[in-house]
Amino acid sequence: MDDNILDKTVITGANGMVGSYVDFGIKVNKRLLDVTDLMETMKIIDQYQPRAIIHLAAETDVDRCERDPMYAYFVNAIGTYNVAVAAQKVGAKMVYVSTSAVFDGFSKDPYSEDDKTNPQYFYGRSKYIGEVVVRDISDDYIIARVCGVFGGGPKKDQKFVSKIINQLKKKDCQEIKAINDSFISPTFGKDLINHLKYLIKKDAKGIFHLSNKGVCSRYDMVVKIIEVLGKDVKVMPVDSSYFNLPAQRGMNESMVSKRFDLARDWQKALEEYLREEWLPTLKLLRY
Ligand SMILES: NC(=O)c1ccc[n+]([C@@H]2O[C@H](COP(=O)([O-])OP(=O)(O)OC[C@H]3O[C@@H](n4cnc5c(N)ncnc54)[C@H](OP(=O)(O)O)[C@@H]3O)[C@@H](O)[C@H]2O)c1
Repeated sequence: MDDNILDKTVITGANGMVGSYVDFGIKVNKRLLDVTDLMETMKIIDQYQPRAIIHLAAETDVDRCERDPMYAYFVNAIGTYNVAVAAQKVGAKMVYVSTSAVFDGFSKDPYSEDDKTNPQYFYGRSKYIGEVVVRDISDDYIIARVCGVFGGGPKKDQKFVSKIINQLKKKDCQEIKAINDSFISPTFGKDLINHLKYLIKKDAKGIFHLSNKGVCSRYDMVVKIIEVLGKDVKVMPVDSSYFNLPAQRGMNESMVSKRFDLARDWQKALEEYLREEWLPTLKLLRY
C-alpha cells in the first residue's frame, strides 16, 4: 500500500463528470493541458513529475465521434498516445479510463476482461486505439473499462440521467420513452474514482472492468430514476432504432469483472447519486 502516490497523481480532463469526484492530486483541465498537444503534454507532466496519471480527458460525445471520426481519433487516440509517452518518460503509472464500447456488442453475456475486443463505432474504435497504445508504451498501466457513466450532479451531468431529469422537470411531461432492447452496466463516477484510488494504492496493473454490478437497459434506469424522484410519469419501452442516433451502439455493452469485486449494485449507486446530488436542488425548484 502506498498512500502518498495519490498526492503525486495528475488527473487529465479533470473538469468533466468523473473528474468532479477527484479529491486528491493535481487536477488539470483542457485549458491548462490540451492532451492533443504532445510538446505541451510532455512539458507539463515533466513539471509535475507525477507518480501516476489518471487520464480522463476524452471526447465522450459518442454521436459527435461518429460524425467526426478524425476528431475522435485526434483526442482519444493521439491524445492518449501523448499522455502515455509523457507518463513513460517520467516513470508514472498510466491509468487510462476506457469503455465497454471496445467490444462488438454481439455477445449474449456481459463482457469480462478476457473477452476479445472488436469495436463497431468510432467512439469505441478511438478509445480502443488508446488502449493499444497504452499497452504498448507503458511499462506500468491500468486500463479501467466502464460503461454508461453517471454522475457530476446538476453542474456537470450532461449525459443520460440529466437528460431524463430535464424531461421530468417539464410541467407537461407525462411519458418518457426509453430503450429496452440493449443492455449496459451503469457506472457511478464516484465509485469509479474510489476504485481507481484503491487500485493505484495497491499498485495494481493490467485491465479491470470497473462498472457497478448488474446489467440493465436504459428503460430500467428511467424506472429507477422515477421511483427515487417520485414522479407520476409513464415509462414507454422502445427499440434501439427509435431514436435514430448517428452512432449505432452495441446491443450488449454490459460488463463483469473477473479481477475486481468491490463494486456495489448499479441501483444502490444511482439511488445515492439522485438523493445526494439531485433531490436537494429539485426540491428548491418545487419539482
Ligand atoms: N461518460 C461515459 O458514459 C463514459 C463511458 C465509458 C468511458 N468513459 C470514459 O471516462 C472518462 C471520463 O469521462 P467523463 O464521463 O468524465 O466525460 P466528460 O464529462 O466529457 O469529461 C471529459 C473531459 O475531457 C476534457 N477534454 C476533451 N478534450 C480534451 C483535450 N484535448 N485535452 C484535455 N482535456 C480534454 C473535456 O473538456 P471540455 O468539456 O472542456 O471539452 C472534459 O472536461 C473518459 O476517458 C471517457 O472516455 C466515459
